[in-house]
Amino acid sequence: AHQWRGVIREYIDRLPVEDSDTIVTLGEGGTPLVFAPALSAETGNQVYLKVEGMNPTGSFKDRGMTMAMTAAVNSGAKAVVCASTGNTSASAAAYAKQAGLTCAVLVPDGKISMGKLSQAVAHGAKIIQVDGNFDNCLDVARKLSENYPVFLVNSVNPARIEGQKTGSFEVVDFLGDAPDYHLLPVGNAGNITAYWRGYKEYSTEFVNQQGQTLAPVATKTPIMWGFQAAGAAPIVAGHPVLEPETIATAIRIGNPASWQQAEAARDESGGLIEAVSDDEILEAHRWLSSREGVFVEPASAAGAAGLLKHHRAGTAPTGKTIVITVTGHGLKDPEWAIKGAGEGATPVQVGFDVVSVADALGLK
Ligand code: F0G
Repeated sequence: AHQWRGVIREYIDRLPVEDSDTIVTLGEGGTPLVFAPALSAETGNQVYLKVEGMNPTGSFKDRGMTMAMTAAVNSGAKAVVCASTGNTSASAAAYAKQAGLTCAVLVPDGKISMGKLSQAVAHGAKIIQVDGNFDNCLDVARKLSENYPVFLVNSVNPARIEGQKTGSFEVVDFLGDAPDYHLLPVGNAGNITAYWRGYKEYSTEFVNQQGQTLAPVATKTPIMWGFQAAGAAPIVAGHPVLEPETIATAIRIGNPASWQQAEAARDESGGLIEAVSDDEILEAHRWLSSREGVFVEPASAAGAAGLLKHHRAGTAPTGKTIVITVTGHGLKDPEWAIKGAGEGATPVQVGFDVVSVADALGLK
């Protein structure tokens, strides 16, 4: 049987890596594309979820981090830094350990989930809580890397985008062609940038860095639909949001680094970038866990929230193949599952005899 070797080795002919490079990998990528029966039935489409929570640190960030950390090691770096709402820091902390580098993470004041923070702690990152939001953290991280001997592993590093574009390759390899639509959350806008690059590269002849021309794999590119949280929707508003607010802390970002690239993905694909409210995000979050069997963190549900919103407005497609990237694992931020479950969150307590358990279950 074939064992998945991580995105660099699987897609080496399409990534800017030298043969002589030491590859830093935790076996990321190769995540399942899961058919979503309830969303498909509800909307009249073939809907699939790209379940990125199955990556080694539980989010899509690992696809970019294997590339960024490989670049860091091969450039002789000794230390890396990132700003993060939590998932990037968890990923950077883990990959830095394999690379033998020290890692500093800048996180916003008080708005990072316990699951993510515990990962950075477990992997021994130096955690700096900055008195500000993600945008402030990224600003400081950039300046730090420009003025001190630390290597920046945020998605402003082009290696990150290169790694993350493999998500599209996997979708096409699985489905046999590109889907009609691709939906995903938008925060700092690196992932929509990366997916669009991947789809474009897979649908045309691609000249790689060895000078080989690779034949197209897909016959088309999808329409890209991106969704920001309503309280943190600068691309929708057309200007930066100074104080972004949303329960979806992963995408609580007011001035995305890849803003222009995200707009290019939207416009070149004939797509859209819109806002979904926190209530719509939480409804989709619960839909995914209670109806599809897929547990994600709140921000990860923004794409599904967008599809449901369009379906109800009568503006969703029908009869199409739709892929939704669900970006991070539900265990990252489990409190929302408990909060959303109401009485269902409290276990029924009984004694240790079969009849009591059968009674509690309504069995006769
Ligand atoms: N979903 C999750 C779970 C995320 O963690 C992020 C970004 C996004 C979606 C948005 O992706 O930024 O590429 O548009 N999290 C970053 C972090 C900001 O620091 O972990 P994007």
